[in-house]
Amino acid sequence: MYAIAVLLSGAGSNLQALLDAEAAGTLGAQVTLVVSERADAYGLQRALTRGLAVAHVPLPPAPRGPARDAARAAWELRLAAVTAAFTPDLVVLAGFMRVLSPAFLNWFPGRVINQHPALLPADGGATYTTSAGLVIPALRGAHVVAEAVHLGLPVSGCTIHRVTPRVDDGPILARAEVPVLPDDTPASLHERIKVEEHRLIVEVVASLALRQGS
Ligand code: GAR
Repeated sequence: MYAIAVLLSGAGSNLQALLDAEAAGTLGAQVTLVVSERADAYGLQRALTRGLAVAHVPLPPAPRGPARDAARAAWELRLAAVTAAFTPDLVVLAGFMRVLSPAFLNWFPGRVINQHPALLPADGGATYTTSAGLVIPALRGAHVVAEAVHLGLPVSGCTIHRVTPRVDDGPILARAEVPVLPDDTPASLHERIKVEEHRLIVEVVASLALRQGS
């Protein structure tokens, strides 16, 4: 069975979408491990409820500087080793709010994918052209849903891409556009983006699993 490790930092609604598809028999894959750097990530509870293996790999607090860099490198190593112990075919970053360096990515070459709650272009550029031909900024970083609202963008959306060392970049696997409504708040927009993300993550994982199996 195509094995998936899910890394998350928060609510885990995308993990839930994967687990529901797995239970319905439509995923063609099995979530075998859920990992978080946050003990209070609700996604860990969702995994425990299903009887899945979970790992909490805390990021040690350290002041900026060489000590922090060393602590961070050691943490990435622990994260990679714990994940690799479950021999995943695919590592899914589903709301994982830490940037991973090549030190982690090299453990799973070409096998890490990320969900991003904004539209990213295929060329790694600064703009994205919507299906209606509108050119909007390609929003990267941790606060892109709020940015889409504050910039007054007419449309935003979500992207699933393979992870490379460049943050919020890499070969695109799927995207969906979501209109931004005049009275949207970051929370209301994010809810509608998540509806699309839940659909897309299941489609992408199912298609990667199918490809590996064929
Ligand atoms: C999702 O919207 C995902 O795209 C985003 O976090 C949310 C997680 O939701 N990821 C990032 O912002 C990564 N930089 P969930 O915890 O309910 O699945």
